[in-house]
Order: sequence, then C-alpha cells, then structure tokens
Amino acid sequence: MIGIAVVGYGYWGPNLVRNIAECPNAKLIAVCDLRAERLTAVSARYPGVVVTDNFEQVLSNPNVDAVAIATPVSSHFQLAMRAMMAGKHVFIEKPIASTVEEAQRLVDEAARRNLVLAVDHTFVHTGAVKKMQELVKDGLGGVYYYDSVRVNLGLFQHDVSVLWDLAVHDLSIMDYVLNERPVAVSATGMSHVTGQPANIAYLNLFFPGKLIAHIHVNWLAPVKVRRTLVGGTNKMIVYDDLEPSEKIKVYDKGITVSENAEAQRQNAYQQMVGYRSGDMWAPKLDMTEALSSELREFADCVINKKAPTADGHAGLRVVRILEAATQSLAQRGQVIELDDVRRVA
Ligand SMILES: NC(=O)c1ccc[n+]([C@@H]2O[C@H](COP(=O)([O-])OP(=O)(O)OC[C@H]3O[C@@H](n4cnc5c(N)ncnc54)[C@H](O)[C@@H]3O)[C@@H](O)[C@H]2O)c1
Repeated sequence: MIGIAVVGYGYWGPNLVRNIAECPNAKLIAVCDLRAERLTAVSARYPGVVVTDNFEQVLSNPNVDAVAIATPVSSHFQLAMRAMMAGKHVFIEKPIASTVEEAQRLVDEAARRNLVLAVDHTFVHTGAVKKMQELVKDGLGGVYYYDSVRVNLGLFQHDVSVLWDLAVHDLSIMDYVLNERPVAVSATGMSHVTGQPANIAYLNLFFPGKLIAHIHVNWLAPVKVRRTLVGGTNKMIVYDDLEPSEKIKVYDKGITVSENAEAQRQNAYQQMVGYRSGDMWAPKLDMTEALSSELREFADCVINKKAPTADGHAGLRVVRILEAATQSLAQRGQVIELDDVRRVA
C-alpha cells in the first residue's frame, strides 16, 4: 500500500481522487489546490484527508510516497521536479510537460533517483485500445493507416492549443498500438479567437514505410465525434469511443492485388485489384474504468519497482511530436523531421 497526494482538484483532479480513494493498493493522503473552495469540496466528500494550498506541506508529509499532478500543463514540470527532488514518485496528467526539454529532464531525474514516473495516457488503459493493440499485433496484418477524428464543442483552453489538449490522446494511442514510430510530421490549424492558441488542427504523421496517419481535432464542432479507423492488410478496425458497448468493430474487408504478370502488362486495373468483403464482429471488451486500472498499476509499479505502461519515455515521445507539430502549424504545414523520436524510441 502506498500513500498518494493529488495536486490540482479542478475538472480532472476529482477523477484521480475518486479512483485513488477506491484503489486497493493505494491510500489517499492529501489533496492540494490553490483555491480554498476546491479544498472545501474535498473535505466535504473525503473527511480525514489532509487538504492544503501549500505544496511544501505535501512534500514534507512522510505518509506521501507519490504525488499525482492534475494542474494546468504549464505547471507540470515545476511540480513534478520538486516532488522528485523530495523523493516522491510521480504520476502526471497528459501531456507530461510543455516542452521536449522539460520532459527529457523529468525522465532523467526519475532515472537518476530510481523513481517511478508515469503519465496519464488514459486511453491506453481502456479495454477498447488494449483490444486494438492485440489486433494490430495479431490479426490485422500490416497497418496501412491510422485515421482519427476527435471533435466537439469543447472547452477552449487558454494555455495550450487543441493539439496539446486533444491530439495528445491519439498520439498516445498510436504510441501504444502501432509497432512503428513516426519520422516526420506536418500540421495545419487555425485560431478563431484572437490571441488564443489554435482551436482546430489537422495533423499528418509519416512513417519509415507505407503507414500513414491523420488526426483531426477541433473544439469548434457542432457534434461530438470520437472515431478512429485503422486499416490493415487483413482486417480493418472502426473504433467509436462514443458507442456504449461495441466500441470496436473489426471488418474482414480489404483488397487483394493480383501478381498476374499478364494483367500487369496490359495494365488491366480491374483485373489486378480484387475486393474482399467478409464478416464484421465486435469483440467483447474489458469495461473497467481506465483510471482505476491505471492507478492500480502505478501503485504496483512503485511497490514492485516496475515501469508503468505509459512511462516518462512515452510521455516524452508524445511531447516531441506535439512540439514538432506546433512548429509545423506555425509554418502552414511545413514537414518537420522527427529524427530524434527514433533515437528515444
Ligand atoms: N486524462 C484526461 O483525459 C484528461 C482530461 C482532462 C484534463 N486532463 C489534464 O488534467 C490537467 C488539469 O486539467 P483540468 O481541466 O482539470 O484543469 P483545471 O484548470 O480545471 O484544474 C486545475 C486545478 O489545479 C489547481 N492548481 C493550479 N496550479 C496549482 C498549483 N501550483 N498547486 C496546486 N494547485 C494548483 C487549480 O486551482 C485548479 O483547481 C491538465 O494537464 C489536463 O491536460 C486530462
């Protein structure tokens, strides 16, 4: 059993607090927030839990083994660094930090001090994404493309663009599911509120082979869409996160290209490409709340000195792509090479 303190009790923090309070191998020790009314809300729901607006009090509490950070992205680095310097293990909300340099420094510090550093790449712990990973590993064949739409009339963030708020989910899913890492990125986007970061973005990712990925994120859409297509040589997946139960549908559809030399010589296109249209099935999924499995895994990693599924390196890889995409977006989609992503992979 480990003791955890949560820093940040705004929109997402309560989900961490609730899951830690129910976690069999962790104990909720303290909650820290700068706003008094948020601390009052904690005390009303969790009497006995220490509440404070002073982060130093969290760090000096000997019952706190780990700190979970759910504050705005710009504060992740400072809070996580201070926690690790006080010898605490750290669980940070996505994205792990605001820059590659910050993320790299967190990874280095965790390694130097032998501390567990986890990032909340929530989707990686859902039954749907775990199933996608299994299918990509065994059944889908070679992956042709990953194509995702994540749009709604979303909460405009003032400190980060829609890439850092929404595309981070797709990048973390791709990091977990695909066997290849991107080598280059291109992004376009726009802000429709003067002085604010982009609220709509289109992101293309290029890989060493023929795999290609596209992510469309938007806070200014009239309807909510959370749909991903993954096309493989043997099968294709449609992942609709808004479906209550059948979130993953696997289609036995695709093409077969004839190697027939005569057809190729005559360039008889219709003869070369054959279409396969087989069954569709919806696999049974583990419906456990992602944060519940994720926090249990984090506590287990601290207790047994293991690396979590989404560790600091995964957080760093995602931030590296986000930083390159932000640079590309500012240059109207210029392709930015990601040589370093391969280096850290
Ligand atoms: N995993 C997910 O699906 C998911 C979903 C939403 C948000 N998030 C992430 O959670 C984090 C927080 O987002 P949010 O929407 O809850 O933000 P928010 O603004 O609603 O809440 C942040 C809270 O942190 C407090 N705070 C800020 N600085 C602090 C400090 N130095 N010390 C103590 N408290 C401090 C604020 O008072 C506020 O209550 C972000 O990193 C965001 O990306 C993750």
